[in-house]
Amino acid sequence: SEYNVAIVGATGAVGSRMIEMVSESKLHVKSLKLLASKRSAGTKLKYKDQELTVEETTPDSFAGIDLALFSAGGSVSKKFAPEAIKRGAVVVDNTSAFRMDPEVPLVVPEVNSEALAEHHGLIANPNCSTIQMVMSLEPIRERYGLSRVIVTTMQAVSGAGNRAIKETLDESRAYLDGEDYKPEVLPVKGDKKHYQQAFNVLPQIDVFEDDGYTHEEWKMIHETKKIMCGGDMDSNDIQVTATCTRVPVPIAHSESVYFEVLDKNANVAGIQEAISQFDGDVLQDDPDHQIYPQAINAAGKRDTFVGRIRPDQENKGAFHLWNVSDNLLKGAAWNSVEIAEYLDRMDLLHVK
Ligand code: A2P
Repeated sequence: SEYNVAIVGATGAVGSRMIEMVSESKLHVKSLKLLASKRSAGTKLKYKDQELTVEETTPDSFAGIDLALFSAGGSVSKKFAPEAIKRGAVVVDNTSAFRMDPEVPLVVPEVNSEALAEHHGLIANPNCSTIQMVMSLEPIRERYGLSRVIVTTMQAVSGAGNRAIKETLDESRAYLDGEDYKPEVLPVKGDKKHYQQAFNVLPQIDVFEDDGYTHEEWKMIHETKKIMCGGDMDSNDIQVTATCTRVPVPIAHSESVYFEVLDKNANVAGIQEAISQFDGDVLQDDPDHQIYPQAINAAGKRDTFVGRIRPDQENKGAFHLWNVSDNLLKGAAWNSVEIAEYLDRMDLLHVK
């Protein structure tokens, strides 16, 4: 079929990639509508060889829309996703607004596309850090089983939006020029204090919960379980814990992952083989030639790059890996458009 498509948040860091991913997608796009806030209504953006005008998002924006891709923040999704669904659109939401709703599938297509069949008009796109982690762990889980995961992330500033990219670049320039700079966005726009991100690592992404974990860490724990344990966000089948940090990298998150498998015959060669055969993963693991994934090489690519696979020196059945992926593409825009391509292929791109 042919689809009328809308992108909500089209002027944002993820939204601009959504335009790119839609223009390169296998979907038959009849029309594309670009939506944002009132502030950027009238802005012109390129789509293929056309210039499209950005419009303010209103409930009626969704009349006649078949597919709406949302990436304009949780409150915008909460307000407008129901309006879009009411008007017959299927929504793929990149925010955290509906991810933990038991009625809403949380999907990385290569990992749990079967969950798409249960949708009621809305599919949630997981957190960027969760996506690349499950992309690197799923081939291992399929071959050897998986019991435990301990991850530390090194996340790019673009995950906090265009303003965070600009802040880090301006702050870096000011620092090198010996000038003062007052940060207003990072680590978290809505939190009370702001810190220098340039030439610094901040162990805070999203706000702190009462238990000492940040909400980003909470998301990685519960989203991973929901995706890998059949929809159960509190499953004990896989133990997961996370430390999330922000590094002064513009694009592409890196993760150091410790994991324990069930099969005691698991070995590095088998893990490497499983990853290299998994759709969407690229193995870059050759220490003899200093080959390993790097953020600057992953930026602009759709794949998840995996390397540094090695056994733990003391725990049998335990290993370490390093993964890198473009947080705006597989972590957001590409995964969302890929969900739409799967829905189309599975004849599910309609509201039941
Ligand atoms: P706008 O450019 O009009 O502010 P980023 O993640 O890079 O910060 O981008 C956020 C995106 O969400 C932008 O496209 C922004 O549009 C959009 N947005 C923010 N608030 C609203 C709103 N109230 N309604 C619709 N879109 C919004």
